[in-house]
Amino acid sequence: MSRKPLIGIMVNKRSKRKRTLRLYHQYKENTPVQLFSFTPKDINWKTKRIQGGCYINGKWETKTFRFPRAVYNRCYQRKGNTIKRLEKYIGKNKCFNTITFFNKWVVYKILSKSELNTYLPKTWFYKRKRFKKLLESRKHLILKPSYGFLGRRVYLVDTNSPNEPYKIYQDTLKRPKYSCQDSASFYKKIDELVGSKKFIIQELINTTRAAGRITDVRMLLQKNQNGKWNVTNGISRIAQKDYYVTNCSHRICEADEILQTLASNNKERTALYEEMRNTSLIAGELLEKHLGLLGEIGIDMVIDENRKIKIIEVNGKLQKNLYNKGNVSFSCNDLVYKRPVQFAYFLAAAAAQKKR
Ligand SMILES: Nc1ncnc2c1ncn2[C@@H]1O[C@H](COP(=O)(O)OP(=O)(O)O)[C@@H](O)[C@H]1O
Ligand SMILES: [Mg+2]
Repeated sequence: MSRKPLIGIMVNKRSKRKRTLRLYHQYKENTPVQLFSFTPKDINWKTKRIQGGCYINGKWETKTFRFPRAVYNRCYQRKGNTIKRLEKYIGKNKCFNTITFFNKWVVYKILSKSELNTYLPKTWFYKRKRFKKLLESRKHLILKPSYGFLGRRVYLVDTNSPNEPYKIYQDTLKRPKYSCQDSASFYKKIDELVGSKKFIIQELINTTRAAGRITDVRMLLQKNQNGKWNVTNGISRIAQKDYYVTNCSHRICEADEILQTLASNNKERTALYEEMRNTSLIAGELLEKHLGLLGEIGIDMVIDENRKIKIIEVNGKLQKNLYNKGNVSFSCNDLVYKRPVQFAYFLAAAAAQKKR
C-alpha cells in the first residue's frame, strides 16, 4: 500500500501550528494526505528534517518529519526565501502561495497592463512632486503603503473645503486626523507620514453604500483538486459607521446580500456577481504568471457610484477568521479549508507521477 503523501502547512509562529493545522485537518476528509504544520525555524537544513506537529488519532503531537511533497504557505512573507530554499529539495512548484505579502504597486503594474485595467483605480507610485500635482487637479486622493495590511495607514486626503484647506483622514471620516491651514505644513505632515516607506497614490473611489455604510466584496479564489482556479465564495465587509476602510468591519455577510441592496434588479445583481467572478479568475491567472505558484488569493472589490466594479486590493495571506465570525455560515465555507489541502494533494500526486 502506498503511503499517503506528506503535506506541510508553513506558519510563521510556533504558537500557530496547532490552531492552524486543526482547521485544515478537520476538513481534509477523504483527501488521502498526511498533514503537519511547521514554521521556517523548525527546518533543519543539514539533516533535511522538520520539527513539526500533527494530529494522530485526534491528538496533537510534535515530532520530526521528512521534507513534505507539497507545502501550503501560510506564513507572511515578502520574498519567500524559505520557500525558494525548500524548492531546491522538494522540487519547483510544490510550494504554493510562494509570496503571501503582495506589493500593491507591483500588483497594479501587472494588472494594469491587461484587460483588467478598467477595473483598477488609477494608481501612481508616490513621489512628492507627483502627489502635489495630482492633488491640485483631483482634490481627493488615497495614500497608502505599498506593503500595507489591515487598513493601517490608509490616508484619505481632502483639499476641497474652503475653510480648512488641507485635511488628512485616517480610517474614519468623522473628523480629520490632521488639519492644516497652509500648504507648507500640510506637505510637511505628508512627508512625515510617508517617511522612508514606499507609498502609492490612488484615485478615491466613491464606493456605493449599503444602508449608509461603505461595503466591499472579497472574492475568494482557490485552486481545486485539478489544479484549476475556482471562486469559492464572495463575502462582503460592511464598514463601521462613517469609516471609509472596511478592514475593521461592522458586519460580514454573503456578497449576495449586499449585491441585492446595491443592484437595482436581479438581472443586474447576477451580472455584477458574474463580472466579479470572471475578473477574479483573470486576476488569478495574471498574478500567478508573474509572481509564481499561487493556490489561494482574495480579490477585494467595490462598486463605484457608476455601478462599475473596481479592484481595490489583492490579498495573498487570507485572514480565514473572516469566514468563522459569529454564527454566520457562508456558502461553501468548508471549501475554504478543504481546497488548499486538495490542491496540495494535486501537487504532491503530480510529483509522485513524475518520479515513477
Ligand atoms: N482607492 C480607494 N478608494 C476608496 N477606498 C479605498 C481605496 N483604497 C483603499 N480603500 C479602502 O481602504 C481599505 C484598505 O485599503 P487596502 O488597499 O485594502 O489596504 P490594506 O492592505 O491595508 O487592507 C479598503 O478595504 C477600502 O475600504
Ligand atoms: Mg485590504
